[in-house]
Amino acid sequence: KKIVILISGRGSNMEALIAERDGGRLPVDIAAVISNRPAAQGLETAAAAGIATRCLDHKAYAGRDEFDAALAACIDEFAPDLVILAGFMRILTPDFVRHYEGRLLNIHPSLLPSFPGLHTHQRALDEGVRIHGCTVHFVTAELDHGPVVIQAAVPVVDGDDEASLAARVLRQEHRIYPQAVRWLAEGRARLVDGRVVCDASLI
Ligand code: GRF
Repeated sequence: KKIVILISGRGSNMEALIAERDGGRLPVDIAAVISNRPAAQGLETAAAAGIATRCLDHKAYAGRDEFDAALAACIDEFAPDLVILAGFMRILTPDFVRHYEGRLLNIHPSLLPSFPGLHTHQRALDEGVRIHGCTVHFVTAELDHGPVVIQAAVPVVDGDDEASLAARVLRQEHRIYPQAVRWLAEGRARLVDGRVVCDASLI
């Protein structure tokens, strides 16, 4: 299977995917890494790993529709089976989402449907929840919504602040994102009628 990864910044989830592929545990071809921010650190990491990189600066486009059309054209040159959003901080248009229906994955740093949107760790702390986590899901037109592939939970501990909680969740992101992509690439998990169905052996 061929994948394209979209990033906007640090790219640590992208790095986790590259590391699993390099370790022979993720049977995918990472065809390209695309960023909407020229300064994204992850672009350098990807290039150093020998992966094709592209940058489409969203500020250079007249609007969301124009940017998303250019982004889709760039992605489609690589003809990926899966498009992986890894810290890609742009809301995508319904047309874009529809074009990649069933092939577009995201990781979100909360246990959805709790805390869609931004500042998830601070909001979890403000709510006083004791369990927090992250979710890998297929993308639908509704923000931070869509069929869930895998979730991981972490405890919220006394004395946690946003940074400590974010770090605990990020370790789990790095574990479950490659795992979700592996399951999908191997056909051990798939979308059926808008839900993810996993082989019994995975559960
Ligand atoms: C991650 O926490 C991801 O869940 C969120 O943004 C962060 C991106 O981190 N959407 P990185 O760029 O993968 O290091």
